[in-house]
Amino acid sequence: MSKNLSQLARRQGIDNTLFQQLVFSDSVNSGLVNVDIDNSADVVKQQRKVLAKKFLMGEAVVHGAASFYDFIDDGTNEHNANKKAYVCNGSSCLCANTQATVKEVLVAQFGSQNVGHVTCLGRCAENGAFQINGNNYSGSDITKVKQITDQSSTASNESFQVQTTLAEPILTAKITDVAKYYQLFDELSKQFVTKNELEHLLDKLVESGLRGRGGAGFPTGVKWRSCLEELGFNEQSEKYIVCNADEGDAGAFSDRYLLEHRPHAVLFGMLMAGLLTGAKTGVLYIRAEYPEAIKQTKQAISEFDQLILNKTILSDFRFKIIKGAGAYICGEETALLRSIEGQRPVVSVRPPFPTQSGLFGCPTVVNNVETFGSIHFIFSELNSEQNSGVSKYKALGNGKSTGSKLVSLDGAFVHPGIIEVAMGTRLTTIIELAGGFVKGIKALHIGGPLGGVVPLCEIEKLTIDFESFSDNGFLLGHASIIGIPQSMKMIDYIAHLFEFTALESCGKCYPCQIGSVRGQEMFEQAITGKQSINPELLSDLLETMQLGSLCALGGGVPLPINNILTYFENEVAPYFLSKKSTATGEQ
Ligand SMILES: Cc1cc2nc3c(=O)[nH]c(=O)nc-3n(C[C@H](O)[C@H](O)[C@H](O)COP(=O)(O)O)c2cc1C
Ligand code: SF4
Repeated sequence: MSKNLSQLARRQGIDNTLFQQLVFSDSVNSGLVNVDIDNSADVVKQQRKVLAKKFLMGEAVVHGAASFYDFIDDGTNEHNANKKAYVCNGSSCLCANTQATVKEVLVAQFGSQNVGHVTCLGRCAENGAFQINGNNYSGSDITKVKQITDQSSTASNESFQVQTTLAEPILTAKITDVAKYYQLFDELSKQFVTKNELEHLLDKLVESGLRGRGGAGFPTGVKWRSCLEELGFNEQSEKYIVCNADEGDAGAFSDRYLLEHRPHAVLFGMLMAGLLTGAKTGVLYIRAEYPEAIKQTKQAISEFDQLILNKTILSDFRFKIIKGAGAYICGEETALLRSIEGQRPVVSVRPPFPTQSGLFGCPTVVNNVETFGSIHFIFSELNSEQNSGVSKYKALGNGKSTGSKLVSLDGAFVHPGIIEVAMGTRLTTIIELAGGFVKGIKALHIGGPLGGVVPLCEIEKLTIDFESFSDNGFLLGHASIIGIPQSMKMIDYIAHLFEFTALESCGKCYPCQIGSVRGQEMFEQAITGKQSINPELLSDLLETMQLGSLCALGGGVPLPINNILTYFENEVAPYFLSKKSTATGEQ
């Protein structure tokens, strides 16, 4: 069924996708607000009918897709779309305890019916995050709400530090001359033309050891090779390169940083992926919560197009931005591809992998923003034995995790922001460089909502690489770090994680769809004193979610919860039935 729908979606091409027609006008400044569409319920219904006809799909299919998203308006005004202001409810702002005031001020200004919620705006370095008229604000901006509203001010003086421990930065290096930057592509595309030559370049990428930065750490060269080999090289079949810029992990803003400040590094990586796989189209799926990233990337694409027009670069590769609509699961690659097609974005079983059957059923490479951002460095100075990007890249790290990693540090640090470090760098070194913590911290939540909760006593053991985190029972993920303060009750933090999963579950598999809601209920009842938690029941629930879920949303959330149950046993114990009472069946 969904394969047929992919084919139907394909008929109108990437410039005319059902999803973008459902969501927004292509206005990049509209943020979470759908400014150009008349959104009374009847008009919305009629528009969906017309779209269903145009795409030869059932009305239920179109409605099923549209109703999934937070920021698609159904015209009833009961939805979270088209609010005048949005309050960030991500984990970092929760830990910073800034949002009660933010909400109070916004409700006083706009009325409660005009204030929505969003997870998260990626303003984790400053916290106190909110959006007005499609622009994001944070830190002390909440004191200027009246000015912002009256003057339609777009300026937000966001500030965070960007640091690196590398003598030769890879991801944080400034790009001063854009034309010169793309010269490398020009040289490589002239030097490596035949399939054998391109395979040699892929060998170099594999040799560099680059692994995907989106969380799973899959070898990038292997992924690209698999796409190259699909349907044979140089056949007239379509292939796509998709950049996953749906950075939804609360605490993470490194992809946002790259798109806002180094967009050409990301475009270059996608261009090279096109050269090495035979794809001619690059699609950047950027979350609507990042309006500035969309704006800067759009500007960079215009600059790229100008270089093509001037014949500074010879390429028929083209880029397209697709703006998301507020669904965490769209960061999962198969859900993301269905989202672009205009289908309901639920997770698909793999195989087939996207490189075999991806966007519109065509071979597709999906990579994270940071993965693409590393490519220019790797392919530089290729002919130099000692000084090639490949040899310098693989020399960083522990041999299995190579190169550098961006780490996002939230407002719990004295110097919050982005830090680029070599893989293998000690976590304690990062904390020292960030100046330690602003106030008392009892744990770090690292790697997003599905990453582990690391108590202070375990910090010494960890280095920033995939192996160290998994060997010690945690997860590097996208390497965002949120400080959990002493004042945060761990029982509340678990309830928050379950609530997030229940809200964001795509509903494809029962362990996650039902399990997350049962978990949320269990903890809410314990917190309100209605019913203590039965530890055996909870253990069964977490095991079922971990082993039985189709993707890492339902399968991953038991990790931070189990970490808390292990390391903060004494703190959460009062909310549990005692072992003696569970043995005797007492409630
Ligand atoms: C629930 C869930 C959310 C995800 N969110 C993201 C995301 O926001 N960005 C991202 O690059 N990868 C995300 N991923 C991983 C992607 O599915 C995919 O592995 C990644 O985009 C591949 O790129 P990489 O090989 O460069 O890491 C997510 C996975 C899951 C299960
Ligand atoms: S684990 Fe959750 S998000 Fe993932 S497929 Fe199952 S229901 Fe969907």
